[in-house]
Amino acid sequence: MKHVDDFRLRFGRKELVPIIIGGMGVDISTAELALEAARLGGIGHISDAMVPTVSDRRFKTHFVKEKLKTYKYNVASADKSDVLFDLGRLAEATHNHVGRTMEAKLGEGLIFVNCMEKLTMNAPRDTLRVRLSAALDAGIDGITLSAGLHLGSFALIEDHPRFRDAKLGIIVSSLRALQLFLRKTARLKRLPDYVIVEGPLAGGHLGFGMDWANYDLHMITAEIQQYLTTEKLDIPVIPAGGIFTGSDAVSFLEKGAAAVQVATRFTVSKECGLPADVQQEYFRASETDIEVNTISPTGYPMRMLKSSPAIGAGIRPNCEAYGYLLDGSGNCAYVTAYNREVGSHPDAKKIVVMDKTCLCTHMRNFDCWTCGHYTYRLKDTTRRLADGSYQILSAEHIFHDYQFSTDQKIALPA
Ligand SMILES: Cc1cc2nc3c(=O)[nH]c(=O)nc-3n(C[C@H](O)[C@H](O)[C@H](O)COP(=O)(O)O)c2cc1C
Repeated sequence: MKHVDDFRLRFGRKELVPIIIGGMGVDISTAELALEAARLGGIGHISDAMVPTVSDRRFKTHFVKEKLKTYKYNVASADKSDVLFDLGRLAEATHNHVGRTMEAKLGEGLIFVNCMEKLTMNAPRDTLRVRLSAALDAGIDGITLSAGLHLGSFALIEDHPRFRDAKLGIIVSSLRALQLFLRKTARLKRLPDYVIVEGPLAGGHLGFGMDWANYDLHMITAEIQQYLTTEKLDIPVIPAGGIFTGSDAVSFLEKGAAAVQVATRFTVSKECGLPADVQQEYFRASETDIEVNTISPTGYPMRMLKSSPAIGAGIRPNCEAYGYLLDGSGNCAYVTAYNREVGSHPDAKKIVVMDKTCLCTHMRNFDCWTCGHYTYRLKDTTRRLADGSYQILSAEHIFHDYQFSTDQKIALPA
Protein backbone atom coordinates (compact mmCIF):
# COMPACT_ATOMS: atom_id res chain seq x y z
CA MET A 1 0.00 0.00 0.00
CA LYS A 2 1.67 3.23 -1.12
CA HIS A 3 1.67 6.50 0.75
CA VAL A 4 2.29 10.04 -0.46
CA ASP A 5 5.88 9.91 0.78
CA ASP A 6 6.66 7.30 -1.89
CA PHE A 7 6.34 10.10 -4.47
CA ARG A 8 8.25 13.31 -5.09
CA LEU A 9 7.41 16.55 -6.90
CA ARG A 10 10.36 17.40 -9.14
CA PHE A 11 11.25 20.90 -10.30
CA GLY A 12 14.51 20.44 -12.21
CA ARG A 13 16.87 18.87 -9.71
CA LYS A 14 14.81 19.92 -6.72
CA GLU A 15 12.71 17.24 -5.05
CA LEU A 16 9.81 18.08 -2.78
CA VAL A 17 7.21 16.25 -0.75
CA PRO A 18 4.28 16.40 -3.20
CA ILE A 19 1.94 18.29 -0.86
CA ILE A 20 1.02 21.89 -1.56
CA ILE A 21 -1.09 23.89 0.87
CA GLY A 22 -3.26 26.11 -1.32
CA GLY A 23 -3.61 29.87 -0.99
CA MET A 24 -6.46 30.99 1.25
CA GLY A 25 -7.19 34.68 1.27
CA VAL A 26 -7.44 36.96 3.20
CA ASP A 27 -4.58 35.71 5.38
CA ILE A 28 -6.29 32.41 6.18
CA SER A 29 -3.23 30.69 4.71
CA THR A 30 -0.89 32.70 6.90
CA ALA A 31 2.87 33.02 6.65
CA GLU A 32 3.07 30.65 9.65
CA LEU A 33 1.10 27.97 7.80
CA ALA A 34 3.12 28.37 4.59
CA LEU A 35 6.38 28.29 6.55
CA GLU A 36 5.39 24.98 8.13
CA ALA A 37 4.73 23.45 4.71
CA ALA A 38 8.14 24.63 3.51
CA ARG A 39 9.89 23.41 6.67
CA LEU A 40 8.34 19.97 6.17
CA GLY A 41 9.62 19.81 2.60
CA GLY A 42 6.45 20.69 0.70
CA ILE A 43 5.07 23.95 -0.67
CA GLY A 44 3.03 26.52 1.20
CA HIS A 45 1.14 29.51 -0.12
CA ILE A 46 0.60 32.91 1.28
CA SER A 47 -1.99 35.06 -0.47
CA ASP A 48 -1.66 38.59 -1.72
CA ALA A 49 -5.39 39.25 -1.38
CA MET A 50 -5.89 42.60 0.37
CA VAL A 51 -2.20 42.74 1.16
CA PRO A 52 -2.28 46.32 2.50
CA THR A 53 -4.68 45.36 5.28
CA VAL A 54 -2.68 42.19 5.97
CA SER A 55 0.47 44.31 6.27
CA ASP A 56 -1.34 46.68 8.64
CA ARG A 57 -2.45 43.83 10.87
CA ARG A 58 0.92 42.09 10.90
CA PHE A 59 3.42 44.94 10.72
CA LYS A 60 1.53 47.90 12.19
CA THR A 61 1.58 49.85 8.93
CA HIS A 62 -1.27 52.25 8.14
CA PHE A 63 -2.05 51.66 4.49
CA VAL A 64 -5.81 51.26 4.94
CA LYS A 65 -6.16 54.32 7.17
CA GLU A 66 -4.17 56.43 4.69
CA LYS A 67 -6.31 55.31 1.75
CA LEU A 68 -9.52 55.96 3.66
CA LYS A 69 -8.26 59.41 4.61
CA THR A 70 -7.48 60.25 0.99
CA TYR A 71 -10.95 59.23 -0.21
CA LYS A 72 -13.07 60.06 2.82
CA TYR A 73 -14.96 62.68 0.80
CA ASN A 74 -16.31 59.86 -1.39
CA VAL A 75 -17.69 57.51 1.29
CA ALA A 76 -21.34 58.43 0.77
CA SER A 77 -21.08 58.50 -3.02
CA ALA A 78 -22.36 55.67 -5.20
CA ASP A 79 -19.64 56.42 -7.75
CA LYS A 80 -16.40 54.73 -6.74
CA SER A 81 -14.39 55.43 -9.89
CA ASP A 82 -12.10 57.94 -8.10
CA VAL A 83 -10.92 55.44 -5.52
CA LEU A 84 -7.55 54.29 -6.84
CA PHE A 85 -4.74 52.48 -5.07
CA ASP A 86 -1.38 54.17 -4.61
CA LEU A 87 0.86 51.76 -6.51
CA GLY A 88 3.94 52.61 -4.45
CA ARG A 89 2.09 51.74 -1.26
CA LEU A 90 0.79 48.53 -2.81
CA ALA A 91 4.35 47.50 -3.67
CA GLU A 92 5.48 48.35 -0.14
CA ALA A 93 2.72 46.23 1.41
CA THR A 94 3.61 43.30 -0.86
CA HIS A 95 7.28 43.68 0.06
CA ASN A 96 6.43 43.57 3.74
CA HIS A 97 4.30 40.46 3.56
CA VAL A 98 6.33 38.47 1.04
CA GLY A 99 9.77 39.68 2.13
CA ARG A 100 9.31 38.92 5.81
CA THR A 101 7.81 35.51 5.08
CA MET A 102 10.77 34.59 2.88
CA GLU A 103 13.27 35.80 5.49
CA ALA A 104 11.71 33.40 7.99
CA LYS A 105 11.82 30.38 5.70
CA LEU A 106 13.55 27.24 6.97
CA GLY A 107 13.89 23.84 5.35
CA GLU A 108 13.95 22.54 1.82
CA GLY A 109 10.43 23.40 0.74
CA LEU A 110 9.12 26.41 -1.17
CA ILE A 111 6.78 29.31 -0.55
CA PHE A 112 4.51 30.60 -3.28
CA VAL A 113 2.06 33.48 -3.35
CA ASN A 114 -1.50 33.05 -4.58
CA CYS A 115 -2.49 35.92 -6.83
CA MET A 116 -6.13 36.33 -7.86
CA GLU A 117 -6.82 38.13 -11.12
CA LYS A 118 -10.36 38.89 -9.99
CA LEU A 119 -9.00 41.38 -7.44
CA THR A 120 -9.24 44.06 -10.07
CA MET A 121 -8.65 46.96 -7.67
CA ASN A 122 -10.14 49.66 -9.92
CA ALA A 123 -7.08 49.40 -12.24
CA PRO A 124 -6.67 45.72 -13.15
CA ARG A 125 -3.47 45.74 -15.19
CA ASP A 126 -1.48 48.29 -13.21
CA THR A 127 -2.26 46.81 -9.81
CA LEU A 128 -1.66 43.24 -10.95
CA ARG A 129 1.67 44.18 -12.49
CA VAL A 130 2.76 45.77 -9.21
CA ARG A 131 1.57 42.81 -7.12
CA LEU A 132 3.42 40.31 -9.32
CA SER A 133 6.64 42.32 -9.69
CA ALA A 134 6.81 43.25 -6.02
CA ALA A 135 6.40 39.60 -4.99
CA LEU A 136 9.26 38.64 -7.32
CA ASP A 137 11.39 41.52 -6.02
CA ALA A 138 10.75 40.38 -2.46
CA GLY A 139 12.13 36.92 -3.24
CA ILE A 140 9.03 34.73 -3.47
CA ASP A 141 9.86 31.22 -4.74
CA GLY A 142 6.84 31.11 -7.03
CA ILE A 143 3.50 32.64 -8.00
CA THR A 144 0.25 30.76 -8.48
CA LEU A 145 -2.12 32.69 -10.73
CA SER A 146 -5.71 32.06 -9.70
CA ALA A 147 -9.34 33.23 -9.89
CA GLY A 148 -9.49 34.49 -13.44
CA LEU A 149 -8.04 33.42 -16.78
CA HIS A 150 -4.83 35.42 -16.40
CA LEU A 151 -4.38 35.51 -20.18
CA GLY A 152 -2.19 38.60 -20.01
CA SER A 153 -0.48 38.07 -16.66
CA PHE A 154 2.80 36.51 -17.85
CA ALA A 155 3.28 39.42 -20.27
CA LEU A 156 2.95 41.88 -17.38
CA ILE A 157 6.20 40.55 -15.90
CA GLU A 158 8.08 39.34 -18.99
CA ASP A 159 10.79 41.96 -18.44
CA HIS A 160 11.29 41.13 -14.78
CA PRO A 161 14.76 39.63 -14.15
CA ARG A 162 13.17 36.71 -12.30
CA PHE A 163 10.56 35.93 -14.98
CA ARG A 164 12.33 32.75 -16.06
CA ASP A 165 13.77 31.72 -12.70
CA ALA A 166 10.79 31.97 -10.32
CA LYS A 167 8.24 29.17 -10.51
CA LEU A 168 5.07 30.40 -12.19
CA GLY A 169 1.93 28.31 -12.17
CA ILE A 170 -1.70 28.65 -13.05
CA ILE A 171 -4.95 27.28 -11.61
CA VAL A 172 -7.49 26.03 -14.13
CA SER A 173 -10.72 24.08 -13.84
CA SER A 174 -10.95 22.90 -17.44
CA LEU A 175 -8.78 21.86 -20.36
CA ARG A 176 -10.24 24.73 -22.33
CA ALA A 177 -8.96 27.31 -19.86
CA LEU A 178 -5.47 25.78 -20.01
CA GLN A 179 -5.49 25.75 -23.81
CA LEU A 180 -6.51 29.41 -23.91
CA PHE A 181 -3.71 30.32 -21.51
CA LEU A 182 -1.08 28.38 -23.47
CA ARG A 183 -2.21 29.92 -26.74
CA LYS A 184 -2.20 33.41 -25.33
CA THR A 185 1.28 33.09 -23.77
CA ALA A 186 2.96 31.11 -26.62
CA ARG A 187 4.76 34.24 -27.81
CA LEU A 188 6.69 34.45 -24.53
CA LYS A 189 8.28 30.99 -24.92
CA ARG A 190 7.74 30.37 -21.25
CA LEU A 191 5.46 27.55 -20.20
CA PRO A 192 3.94 27.49 -16.74
CA ASP A 193 6.08 25.45 -14.35
CA TYR A 194 2.99 23.70 -13.01
CA VAL A 195 -0.74 23.53 -13.59
CA ILE A 196 -3.10 23.17 -10.66
CA VAL A 197 -6.35 21.55 -11.73
CA GLU A 198 -8.99 22.69 -9.27
CA GLY A 199 -12.15 20.62 -9.22
CA PRO A 200 -15.68 21.43 -8.02
CA LEU A 201 -15.23 20.36 -4.38
CA ALA A 202 -12.63 23.05 -3.52
CA GLY A 203 -13.05 25.96 -1.13
CA GLY A 204 -13.07 29.61 -2.16
CA HIS A 205 -14.32 30.60 -5.62
CA LEU A 206 -15.12 27.85 -8.09
CA GLY A 207 -14.13 27.83 -11.75
CA PHE A 208 -17.51 26.26 -12.57
CA GLY A 209 -21.09 27.44 -12.87
CA MET A 210 -23.87 26.40 -10.50
CA ASP A 211 -23.77 23.05 -12.31
CA TRP A 212 -20.48 22.34 -10.51
CA ALA A 213 -21.81 18.99 -9.21
CA ASN A 214 -21.72 17.59 -12.76
CA TYR A 215 -17.91 17.76 -12.87
CA ASP A 216 -15.32 15.38 -11.52
CA LEU A 217 -11.72 16.16 -10.59
CA HIS A 218 -10.37 12.77 -11.70
CA MET A 219 -11.91 13.22 -15.14
CA ILE A 220 -10.70 16.79 -15.68
CA THR A 221 -7.21 15.89 -14.47
CA ALA A 222 -7.03 12.87 -16.80
CA GLU A 223 -8.19 14.99 -19.74
CA ILE A 224 -5.53 17.61 -19.08
CA GLN A 225 -2.81 14.96 -18.61
CA GLN A 226 -3.82 13.33 -21.89
CA TYR A 227 -3.66 16.66 -23.72
CA LEU A 228 -0.22 17.54 -22.34
CA THR A 229 1.12 14.09 -23.30
CA THR A 230 -0.25 14.40 -26.82
CA GLU A 231 1.24 17.88 -27.19
CA LYS A 232 4.55 16.68 -25.65
CA LEU A 233 4.34 19.39 -23.02
CA ASP A 234 6.14 18.43 -19.82
CA ILE A 235 4.19 20.44 -17.24
CA PRO A 236 3.54 18.97 -13.77
CA VAL A 237 -0.20 18.54 -13.17
CA ILE A 238 -1.45 19.09 -9.62
CA PRO A 239 -5.07 18.27 -8.77
CA ALA A 240 -6.91 20.11 -5.98
CA GLY A 241 -10.36 20.07 -4.41
CA GLY A 242 -11.75 17.41 -2.11
CA ILE A 243 -8.49 15.49 -1.57
CA PHE A 244 -9.14 14.77 2.07
CA THR A 245 -6.85 11.84 2.96
CA GLY A 246 -3.39 10.61 2.08
CA SER A 247 -5.05 7.76 0.19
CA ASP A 248 -7.09 10.25 -1.89
CA ALA A 249 -3.80 11.92 -2.76
CA VAL A 250 -2.14 8.62 -3.68
CA SER A 251 -5.00 7.83 -6.05
CA PHE A 252 -3.97 10.89 -8.09
CA LEU A 253 -0.19 10.43 -7.72
CA GLU A 254 -0.43 6.85 -8.96
CA LYS A 255 -2.09 8.15 -12.11
CA GLY A 256 0.77 10.55 -12.82
CA ALA A 257 -0.16 13.70 -10.90
CA ALA A 258 3.02 15.50 -9.82
CA ALA A 259 1.62 16.59 -6.43
CA VAL A 260 -1.69 17.50 -4.82
CA GLN A 261 -2.93 20.84 -3.54
CA VAL A 262 -5.00 20.76 -0.36
CA ALA A 263 -6.50 23.40 1.91
CA THR A 264 -9.65 22.56 3.87
CA ARG A 265 -7.94 20.21 6.32
CA PHE A 266 -5.56 23.02 7.29
CA THR A 267 -8.37 25.46 8.14
CA VAL A 268 -8.46 23.86 11.59
CA SER A 269 -4.72 24.10 12.23
CA LYS A 270 -3.34 26.41 14.85
CA GLU A 271 -1.19 28.16 12.20
CA CYS A 272 -4.27 29.02 10.10
CA GLY A 273 -5.53 32.61 10.23
CA LEU A 274 -9.17 31.81 11.03
CA PRO A 275 -10.15 32.88 14.55
CA ALA A 276 -10.59 30.02 17.03
CA ASP A 277 -14.39 30.41 17.30
CA VAL A 278 -14.73 30.25 13.50
CA GLN A 279 -12.60 27.11 13.43
CA GLN A 280 -15.12 25.51 15.79
CA GLU A 281 -17.88 26.42 13.29
CA TYR A 282 -15.94 24.55 10.62
CA PHE A 283 -15.57 21.52 12.90
CA ARG A 284 -19.26 21.51 13.84
CA ALA A 285 -20.58 21.84 10.29
CA SER A 286 -22.63 19.05 8.82
CA GLU A 287 -23.08 18.47 5.10
CA THR A 288 -26.34 20.40 4.97
CA ASP A 289 -24.69 23.44 6.59
CA ILE A 290 -22.55 24.04 3.48
CA GLU A 291 -23.71 25.66 0.24
CA VAL A 292 -22.40 26.96 -3.05
CA ASN A 293 -23.95 30.34 -3.73
CA THR A 294 -23.55 33.34 -6.00
CA ILE A 295 -23.17 36.15 -3.48
CA SER A 296 -19.55 36.88 -4.43
CA PRO A 297 -19.39 40.07 -6.50
CA THR A 298 -16.73 38.40 -8.68
CA GLY A 299 -19.42 36.47 -10.53
CA TYR A 300 -17.89 33.11 -9.58
CA PRO A 301 -19.85 30.70 -7.39
CA MET A 302 -18.33 30.30 -3.96
CA ARG A 303 -18.68 27.57 -1.32
CA MET A 304 -19.27 28.59 2.29
CA LEU A 305 -21.02 27.77 5.54
CA LYS A 306 -24.66 28.86 5.39
CA SER A 307 -24.19 30.48 8.79
CA SER A 308 -21.56 32.95 7.45
CA PRO A 309 -22.32 36.43 8.82
CA ALA A 310 -21.54 37.75 5.32
CA ILE A 311 -24.76 36.30 3.91
CA GLY A 312 -27.51 38.91 3.85
CA ALA A 313 -25.46 41.57 5.63
CA GLY A 314 -26.27 44.94 4.06
CA ILE A 315 -23.26 46.92 5.24
CA ARG A 316 -22.23 50.12 3.52
CA PRO A 317 -19.59 49.35 0.86
CA ASN A 318 -16.14 50.08 2.21
CA CYS A 319 -14.35 50.80 -1.08
CA GLU A 320 -12.58 53.90 0.19
CA ALA A 321 -10.69 51.71 2.67
CA TYR A 322 -10.59 48.49 0.62
CA GLY A 323 -12.07 48.45 -2.91
CA TYR A 324 -10.31 45.31 -4.15
CA LEU A 325 -13.21 44.17 -6.31
CA LEU A 326 -13.86 47.40 -8.15
CA ASP A 327 -13.50 46.71 -11.85
CA GLY A 328 -11.59 49.00 -14.21
CA SER A 329 -14.48 51.52 -14.16
CA GLY A 330 -15.08 51.61 -10.43
CA ASN A 331 -18.02 49.20 -10.37
CA CYS A 332 -18.68 46.28 -8.06
CA ALA A 333 -21.78 44.07 -8.08
CA TYR A 334 -22.17 44.56 -4.32
CA VAL A 335 -22.12 48.36 -4.61
CA THR A 336 -24.84 48.10 -7.27
CA ALA A 337 -26.94 45.71 -5.16
CA TYR A 338 -26.54 47.84 -2.04
CA ASN A 339 -27.56 51.03 -3.82
CA ARG A 340 -30.60 49.25 -5.28
CA GLU A 341 -31.73 48.23 -1.78
CA VAL A 342 -31.11 51.70 -0.36
CA GLY A 343 -33.12 53.16 -3.27
CA SER A 344 -36.08 50.85 -2.69
CA HIS A 345 -36.07 51.18 1.13
CA PRO A 346 -35.20 54.85 1.67
CA ASP A 347 -36.46 54.87 5.27
CA ALA A 348 -34.99 51.57 6.40
CA LYS A 349 -32.59 51.71 9.35
CA LYS A 350 -31.03 48.42 8.40
CA ILE A 351 -30.37 47.37 4.82
CA VAL A 352 -30.46 43.72 3.84
CA VAL A 353 -28.74 42.61 0.63
CA MET A 354 -29.35 38.95 -0.14
CA ASP A 355 -27.95 38.53 -3.67
CA LYS A 356 -24.41 39.89 -3.18
CA THR A 357 -22.00 40.46 -0.32
CA CYS A 358 -19.31 43.00 0.47
CA LEU A 359 -16.56 40.42 0.06
CA CYS A 360 -13.69 42.79 0.91
CA THR A 361 -15.00 43.69 4.35
CA HIS A 362 -16.28 40.22 5.15
CA MET A 363 -13.15 38.34 4.05
CA ARG A 364 -11.02 40.90 5.87
CA ASN A 365 -13.00 40.28 9.07
CA PHE A 366 -13.23 36.47 8.67
CA ASP A 367 -17.03 36.74 8.34
CA CYS A 368 -17.31 34.91 5.03
CA TRP A 369 -16.72 31.30 6.01
CA THR A 370 -15.63 29.84 2.72
CA CYS A 371 -14.69 26.18 2.89
CA GLY A 372 -14.26 23.00 0.88
CA HIS A 373 -17.05 20.49 0.28
CA TYR A 374 -15.64 18.04 2.84
CA THR A 375 -15.57 20.51 5.71
CA TYR A 376 -18.23 18.34 7.35
CA ARG A 377 -15.59 15.62 7.75
CA LEU A 378 -13.19 17.81 9.76
CA LYS A 379 -14.74 16.60 13.03
CA ASP A 380 -13.44 13.13 12.15
CA THR A 381 -9.85 14.41 12.04
CA THR A 382 -9.57 15.37 15.71
CA ARG A 383 -10.76 14.67 19.24
CA ARG A 384 -13.61 16.20 21.17
CA LEU A 385 -12.50 17.96 24.37
CA ALA A 386 -14.25 17.79 27.75
CA ASP A 387 -15.99 21.14 27.14
CA GLY A 388 -17.49 19.86 23.89
CA SER A 389 -15.17 21.83 21.63
CA TYR A 390 -12.87 20.21 19.07
CA GLN A 391 -9.10 20.06 19.47
CA ILE A 392 -7.20 22.34 17.10
CA LEU A 393 -4.45 20.51 15.20
CA SER A 394 -0.92 21.46 14.32
CA ALA A 395 -0.15 21.97 10.62
CA GLU A 396 2.67 19.47 11.07
CA HIS A 397 0.22 16.81 12.25
CA ILE A 398 -2.07 17.34 9.25
CA PHE A 399 0.85 17.50 6.80
CA HIS A 400 2.30 14.24 8.15
CA ASP A 401 -1.10 12.59 8.07
CA TYR A 402 -1.34 13.36 4.34
CA GLN A 403 2.27 12.27 3.85
CA PHE A 404 2.24 8.93 5.64
CA SER A 405 -1.30 7.61 6.06
CA THR A 406 -2.71 4.68 4.10
CA ASP A 407 -6.05 2.82 3.76
CA GLN A 408 -8.15 6.00 3.97
CA LYS A 409 -7.08 6.33 7.60
CA ILE A 410 -6.80 9.69 9.33
CA ALA A 411 -4.46 9.92 12.33
CA LEU A 412 -5.97 11.61 15.38
CA PRO A 413 -3.83 14.00 17.43
CA ALA A 414 -2.05 12.79 20.56
C1 LIG B 1 -10.90 28.87 3.41
C2 LIG B 1 -10.44 28.77 1.98
C3 LIG B 1 -10.05 29.90 1.30
C4 LIG B 1 -9.58 29.81 -0.01
N1 LIG B 1 -9.15 30.93 -0.65
C5 LIG B 1 -8.58 30.83 -1.88
C6 LIG B 1 -7.99 31.97 -2.48
O1 LIG B 1 -7.96 33.04 -1.90
N2 LIG B 1 -7.45 31.82 -3.71
C7 LIG B 1 -7.44 30.59 -4.37
O2 LIG B 1 -6.92 30.50 -5.47
N3 LIG B 1 -7.98 29.51 -3.80
C8 LIG B 1 -8.53 29.58 -2.57
N4 LIG B 1 -8.99 28.46 -1.96
C9 LIG B 1 -8.84 27.15 -2.65
C10 LIG B 1 -7.61 26.39 -2.12
O3 LIG B 1 -6.43 27.07 -2.36
C11 LIG B 1 -7.49 24.97 -2.68
O4 LIG B 1 -7.13 24.92 -4.03
C12 LIG B 1 -8.73 24.09 -2.52
O5 LIG B 1 -9.54 24.49 -1.46
C13 LIG B 1 -8.29 22.65 -2.31
O6 LIG B 1 -9.36 21.83 -1.99
P1 LIG B 1 -9.65 21.34 -0.49
O7 LIG B 1 -9.95 22.55 0.29
O8 LIG B 1 -10.83 20.43 -0.65
O9 LIG B 1 -8.43 20.61 0.01
C14 LIG B 1 -9.51 28.54 -0.66
C15 LIG B 1 -9.90 27.40 0.05
C16 LIG B 1 -10.36 27.49 1.35
C17 LIG B 1 -10.77 26.23 2.08
